[in-house]
Amino acid sequence: MAEANQPRPTAQAQTPYNLAAQTVSDPMTKDLNPQKQHMGDESMVRTLAAQTEAIWPQERELIATYRLPATAGVLDVGSGTGEFSARLAEYLPQSKLLGVEILPQSVTYARQHHGRLAPRLDFKVGDAFALEFPDQRFDFVTCRHMLQSVPEPQRVIAELIRVTRPGGRLHLLVEDYGMIHAYPTRRELDGFWQRAMAGFVNAMHVDPRIGRRTWTELHSRGVRDLAVHYITVDTLRVPRDTMARIFESWRDGYANTVAELAGMSSDEAYAGFTDMADCIRDPQGYAVWHVPIVTGLKA
Ligand SMILES: C[S@@+](CC[C@H](N)C(=O)[O-])C[C@H]1O[C@@H](n2cnc3c(N)ncnc32)[C@H](O)[C@@H]1O
Repeated sequence: MAEANQPRPTAQAQTPYNLAAQTVSDPMTKDLNPQKQHMGDESMVRTLAAQTEAIWPQERELIATYRLPATAGVLDVGSGTGEFSARLAEYLPQSKLLGVEILPQSVTYARQHHGRLAPRLDFKVGDAFALEFPDQRFDFVTCRHMLQSVPEPQRVIAELIRVTRPGGRLHLLVEDYGMIHAYPTRRELDGFWQRAMAGFVNAMHVDPRIGRRTWTELHSRGVRDLAVHYITVDTLRVPRDTMARIFESWRDGYANTVAELAGMSSDEAYAGFTDMADCIRDPQGYAVWHVPIVTGLKA
């Protein structure tokens, strides 16, 4: 058939959601940290606490399969409040870990809350777009829940690879807002997420579907032994209260922005998140957020 001979789109083809192509045109004017207010908001402290509580039990099992060197040098990029870095430091008791984070107040928070693990675990201010480390410096490089929030995430990915030693491991936990489902809900929420994502793409030039794109980004840069694992944050594996708190804190931090960027009323945006949280709290409801972790070894 004629259609079968049509060239298939490549990873570089420009589509409305292919930010790799879309965002290189105006690098001088783009805000590379368009969510700084959200990231520094009180609600983000709750978000990161609930997310890590939900995800770490499954993520720890995955990390166990990596067989990291006992004394691994670890870099956690975009370390936020340090919830993950601290759990990792406890899990790898002979490792040396550094969390790099662009917001000074988050670095202060992380240092204060995880000081018991210092100096083996430290946090410092730094920019993922220009890491201040020599090439091939770390055994294990992690980046979680960050790449969906910055334009041109491929530039950060290149930096993560640069500072990983050959044979060292990359561990990228990447969000994708097309991987969230709930039933029953009062509203049809697939459309809600679609509209919210389109708003973020158009206004902030970020990629809310970075989760499905990351394998290709790493593959095209020669990372080997690539695998994609899914953390299943659902109402069967995660306590309902923990999971609901994720969507409630997202709502508190992001509903007004979703309303503005997606052309919804504030009430509508607020109700979308609340609907999701209510389904999770309803013993008759089922909800799931699939969270990809893309991992591989630097060649
Ligand atoms: C959603 S939080 C995730 C925090 C942590 N990785 C976790 O999993 O709990 C994303 C973090 O990345 C930080 N961030 C954003 N852009 C950054 C950049 N260019 N360099 C370093 N950190 C950045 C934000 O300030 C925020 O603290």
